[in-house]
Amino acid sequence: PSSQTVNLVEVGPRDGLQNEKSGIISVETKVELIERLVRAGVTNVEAGSFVSPKWVPQMAGTSEVLKSLYHVPSVHYAVLVPNAKGLSDLLSLLASNPSSPSSPPLTDEISVFTAATSSFTRANLNCTVAESLQKIAPVVREARDRGLRVRGYVSVVVYCPFEGRVESRKVRDVAKELLEMGCYEVSLGDTVGQARPHEVAEMLEEVLTELPAEKLAGHFHDTYGTGVANVLTAVPYGIRTIDASVGGLGGCPYSPGATGNVATEDVIYALQESGYRVAGSWTGDSSSDFSGRGTVDLEQLVDIGWWISEKLGRQNASRVGRAVKAR
Ligand code: HMG
Ligand code: MG
Repeated sequence: PSSQTVNLVEVGPRDGLQNEKSGIISVETKVELIERLVRAGVTNVEAGSFVSPKWVPQMAGTSEVLKSLYHVPSVHYAVLVPNAKGLSDLLSLLASNPSSPSSPPLTDEISVFTAATSSFTRANLNCTVAESLQKIAPVVREARDRGLRVRGYVSVVVYCPFEGRVESRKVRDVAKELLEMGCYEVSLGDTVGQARPHEVAEMLEEVLTELPAEKLAGHFHDTYGTGVANVLTAVPYGIRTIDASVGGLGGCPYSPGATGNVATEDVIYALQESGYRVAGSWTGDSSSDFSGRGTVDLEQLVDIGWWISEKLGRQNASRVGRAVKAR
């Protein structure tokens, strides 16, 4: 991809739905959401998690989701894996559903996650940062040995709900460990959604002293309305992968008050006509006048944002989605 390409990772089906309070979401709805996103041109989508259902009940049906999905070759359907049990459950699923020349594997990617503060990892993973890294290392090794690629996450890269402003060198050190373990990319999470653009810039400047921008992604929640501004801050630093969720779905169960990720529609709209194209298309450029330079189809994303918001009985958090509907 050219340096002017921004790659989208659609996290709505995982980060979005994991915190949904409107009752357990059916496998059918999750599958339909993912399939619609892929039809709209998304090629990297988080399909669910192999975490404890006691901790995150909404992600309990992830095996069923992976089995029911129509799998498009070349699309990465990533799943979050917190520990060795999560990986072994996933590997058993893959072993009982082998791929063939006519059917791609159920997934080729996992994500592992930790944070820049131990207060946060205690809440999210029931251990300290150092302990979480110790648990993740063999998971990364085994996943890679089995041919899976591994993405890493660092949460609370600017603000921690328990410790306040986080020191950027901690973010740098944890991200570095994840890359050294074998993650192909590390996504830097403003979990709380409270970071301001100048704070994101300061954090990135520190992280980039030791790590290459090509191996980093930006993951901004939008609690304080700075999500798009933070994306536009990160991209000129060379960050070329952005996580977002359609309709701004979501929140974080361990970050009180945090709202969803920055909306995918809003990210695409903000980057259009800026010289960047938002990649993730297997259908080619849309002929629609509204989708402009982005190769993920904005118009379809807007429809999906409305469809899922109505389905869940929640407000559509995408500003672009609301503006388009009001036209
Ligand atoms: P624990 O209680 O310390 O785990 O939790 P344990 O090893 O003591 O096991 C307790 C029970 O959980 C046992 O069952 C295990 O079998 C079961 P029991 O004997 O009581 O019946 N268990 C599992 N079940 C299914 N899948 C598993 C699994 N592991 C254990 N993988 C644990 C530790 C890691 C399990 C727990 O803390 C957990 O599941 N945490 C995940 C929390 C989570 O999913 N958070 C949201 C994702 S991260 C995020 O949203 C941030 C991100 O978006 C970036 C950002 O915004 O910053 C990525
Ligand atoms: Mg998140």
